[in-house]
Amino acid sequence: MAISQDRIIIFDTTLRDGEQSPGATLNVEEKLKVARALARLGVDVIEAGFPYASPGDFQAVQQVASAVGTEDGPTICGLARATQQDIKTAAEALKPAAKKRIHTFLATSDIHLQYKLKKTRQEVLSIVPEMVAYAKSFVDDVEFSPEDAGRSDPEFLYQVLEAAIAAGATTVNIPDTVGYTTPSEFGALIKGIKDNVPNIDQAIISVHGHDDLGLAVANFLEAVKNGARQLECTINGIGERAGNAALEELVMALHVRRQYFNPFLGRPAESTEPLTNIDTKQIYKTSRLVSNLTGMMVQPNKAIVGANAFAHESGIHQDGVLKNKLTYEIMDAQSIGLTENQIVLGKLSGRNAFRTRLKELGFELSETELNKAFVRFKDVADKKKEITDWDIEAIVNDEIRQPPELFRLELVQVSCGDNSCPTATVTVRTPEGEELTDAAIGTGPVDAIYKAINRVVNIPNELIEFSVQSVTSGIDAIGEVTIRLRYENKVYSGHAANTDIIVASARAYLKALNRLYAGLQAAKATETVVNS
Ligand code: KIV
Ligand code: ZN
Repeated sequence: MAISQDRIIIFDTTLRDGEQSPGATLNVEEKLKVARALARLGVDVIEAGFPYASPGDFQAVQQVASAVGTEDGPTICGLARATQQDIKTAAEALKPAAKKRIHTFLATSDIHLQYKLKKTRQEVLSIVPEMVAYAKSFVDDVEFSPEDAGRSDPEFLYQVLEAAIAAGATTVNIPDTVGYTTPSEFGALIKGIKDNVPNIDQAIISVHGHDDLGLAVANFLEAVKNGARQLECTINGIGERAGNAALEELVMALHVRRQYFNPFLGRPAESTEPLTNIDTKQIYKTSRLVSNLTGMMVQPNKAIVGANAFAHESGIHQDGVLKNKLTYEIMDAQSIGLTENQIVLGKLSGRNAFRTRLKELGFELSETELNKAFVRFKDVADKKKEITDWDIEAIVNDEIRQPPELFRLELVQVSCGDNSCPTATVTVRTPEGEELTDAAIGTGPVDAIYKAINRVVNIPNELIEFSVQSVTSGIDAIGEVTIRLRYENKVYSGHAANTDIIVASARAYLKALNRLYAGLQAAKATETVVNS
């Protein structure tokens, strides 16, 4: 049966491919927060994880399926290699979802066949339909991806796709796995598939791509012009290596340049009907949530969601914008949900005002989370006269982004200055409840704190990133600190916000260490089970 699609399907893979970014690992509660935000954003499909990869991934997919996979919510998707055990596990994890999809994949490029899979083309041609049919025995909605399609022989690709569709795939996804193709090549690849796969009208063509050459979004837009109707993307473009195509860039390109894209979807150019289902006003909030939870900072000049995306610095630009915004602005900051940095609350604001503003900002907090955030709000309000939306967001994200608090910072004190040796004293409560105090000197106050914490916690690690960002302007601004550290090739991140950046630095470091410690404990537990 032919499938027709008159708008673009947004398939979000922040929780699967996005979470594969080094250090972006999220726990189940954090994944649920992102999944809820994605549902509010209006994505059509959430790829919630790779259930066979680990028990944690399985649990996350299962919980997202049950909490967010409602009848009127998004389709929940699980990734599976083209093997029976992967597919069966994905089907099991997806059970609670009202609308479920299994996404199975197998590479088709000669490079992958020869070096990675050690399989012949003939073998791939027989595995694909067999595994698609197996996935189909669990769910109606099956997606197949020929991994590294961008570097595959198109003639072979057509054969594999035809076999996948004949076996029941309803979406065929074309990945530029290594971010190698250029826009015109990628557009031609999609056109070739449309023209040469005999049963292509029975499936949606989807695209997936990485940003190694910075071309992922451009490639996708060219793919849309040539017949692709599903875009696989992530919030802030996070993902393997240089990341995936950024959801916010794709959606806003299709929104702002609707008149240009409309005819490619068979609509009159002037049609005002949205090309995607996305509520663009949720974009900024979702971007901030993902950045805060993953610890992956958004570069200031990043399109759409970067701090400078709507700022006008040069006098000529400012003058033009003051006369008429259209002189230098192609979209309204409010269309992505960026509110004015208005002063909203202060020291005398009560709990109700705080709760109401949180609701307006789209935060759904439990009573316990609200209590914790309110205590922090009062604390900040004592130090900072005016609390803006951005401050509230920083406070809440700091409070709710709690990795397991195994080591807890009880005290941090620093002495530093021109003619003194930076010295830090810290008291940390261990997971066993013991309070340990130690001190260290360093090249600066933060170095001294980290050395003092290391003496107490005693977990070897390599600090690979330390960054401080001011949430608002002004001398009393909240500072956000992001830390990334490495241990045995794995990266762990920590993020904290405070009006005192020394305190924020200590807390961010301890959060990253807690993640590392939890990872080590989990690995130890798995080892014990395997060896027993
Ligand atoms: O990049 C890729 O090829 C993938 C596939 C699993 C779709 O992520
Ligand atoms: Zn990918």
